[in-house]
Amino acid sequence: MSDAPVQPNLLADPESTPRRSPPATVVIFGASGDLTARKILPALAALAERQSLDPGTRLVGVARTEWDDDKFRSVAAEAASASGPSWERISGGARYVTGDYGDAGTFSRLTAVLEELEAAAGGPRNRLYYLATIPEMFSVVAAGLGAQGLAKPAGRDAFTRLVVEKPFGRDLASATALDESLHTHFDERQIFRIDHYMGKETVQNVLALRFANSIFEPVWNRQYVDHVQITVAESLGVEHRGGFYETAGALRDIVQNHVLQVLALTLMEPPVSVDGEAIRDEKVKALRALVIPAPHAVASEVVRAQYEAGWIAGNQVPGYREEEGVAADSETETFVAMRLAVDNWRWAGVPIFVRTGKRLPSRFTEVALQFHRAPHLPFQGSQARELGPNALVLRIQPDDGITLLFGAKVPGGAFHVRTVSMDFSYGAAFLEETPDAYERLLLDALMGDPTLFIRTDEVDQAWRVVAPVQAAFQDGAVPLARYAAGTWGPPESDRLLGATGRRWGVG
Ligand code: BG6
Repeated sequence: MSDAPVQPNLLADPESTPRRSPPATVVIFGASGDLTARKILPALAALAERQSLDPGTRLVGVARTEWDDDKFRSVAAEAASASGPSWERISGGARYVTGDYGDAGTFSRLTAVLEELEAAAGGPRNRLYYLATIPEMFSVVAAGLGAQGLAKPAGRDAFTRLVVEKPFGRDLASATALDESLHTHFDERQIFRIDHYMGKETVQNVLALRFANSIFEPVWNRQYVDHVQITVAESLGVEHRGGFYETAGALRDIVQNHVLQVLALTLMEPPVSVDGEAIRDEKVKALRALVIPAPHAVASEVVRAQYEAGWIAGNQVPGYREEEGVAADSETETFVAMRLAVDNWRWAGVPIFVRTGKRLPSRFTEVALQFHRAPHLPFQGSQARELGPNALVLRIQPDDGITLLFGAKVPGGAFHVRTVSMDFSYGAAFLEETPDAYERLLLDALMGDPTLFIRTDEVDQAWRVVAPVQAAFQDGAVPLARYAAGTWGPPESDRLLGATGRRWGVG
């Protein structure tokens, strides 16, 4: 299937290639929903005000909710935190199609609107469809577009692309089925699967740190690294998404996607180039090297837990089972910790510990590499009492930056060494504004750069890694532990590392 030329990619020089989207119609399915109002419209508005969207960009919303053009226009205008003339022009001309996704009439009405807008604008009939509906509707919408002839590019020089939100399936079988139904109508090159973690500047900086410097890569392996830790901690609970979360749980919601994506960037080999396929080839190879836990081993390698009522930042918060939309006897996990192993030359024997949870004491995401201790310390016992191992911590959010932990002499007559930290902070080093992950990803999709999107084989491999864990959860082979909101998870999580002589938090 033809597609318009792909634009310069991830590391293209912004001086020589200012990033501005080609003119296109952005069609949002699920236009009356929460994701559209919270993320997609604000990101489009910010791009428009930054002159990153072509002024000829057109906006169409599709949803079952009975709104009209005016209502959608006002929602689009209000969603923008950066409203100005550029966004006013785009949102003011927005159109809205009410309809059921299973009804062919919806797609014929959409066709009429697209043709009208494109005829008025002239130029290439580029289309970007954004699936922001509930996941059950992804294949229904794709089929509706396909049946109406809307999945094919609408001209020789035009593109038609499909942006798909997570979750990509509930397990390997449903992800494969979803892909098959998308591929019935769309070519893989047209499909842009979003994992918003890949749009975060600091996640991309894992690539810069590793491959733009000569001093880190030589120690980035089993000879120097004792173990790796990845933490995605949230202090929020499930908010108003209890109903959805009941069907997801932390393993599907965070581990299968965000954690494994960050892990793939941490473990991968240097790509041969920065083009989208080269980076994704290496990520998928890294995911393939993860040892898929044997079913009988899951219970000793994985901890699952659910939060009970507790205190966060001085506020009393309810337990998960008391949240709106959550069953009073729910067995859904809100916390997962697991130990992974990697079967390749670089990482053999290096344990990888990952954890994620809701209602933890604070919100932070980080990747930490703890290095082996020095082979011999020429100091006397007490002189090195306060010396921990070296560690490199990539702080992804919220206080984004990098910390290196190393030993230094404590000033004074005696000779004592203590661990100190050397900190790099994004905020202090750069004046440039950090774009929201959705801005970055929407612009990439409009420009045809797939580098930061998830390829079908990555999705597939990520599900393979979590499949035995899912099965063990379903069979009740991993008991559901409890933790009070405002704590770092259950004691079992500490024991997972403690059993190997390690602890969460490096240094
Ligand atoms: C989403 C999950 O993908 O990521 C949410 O569905 C979670 O449950 C969110 O809260 C976390 O994203 P961020 O960018 O706040 O770390």
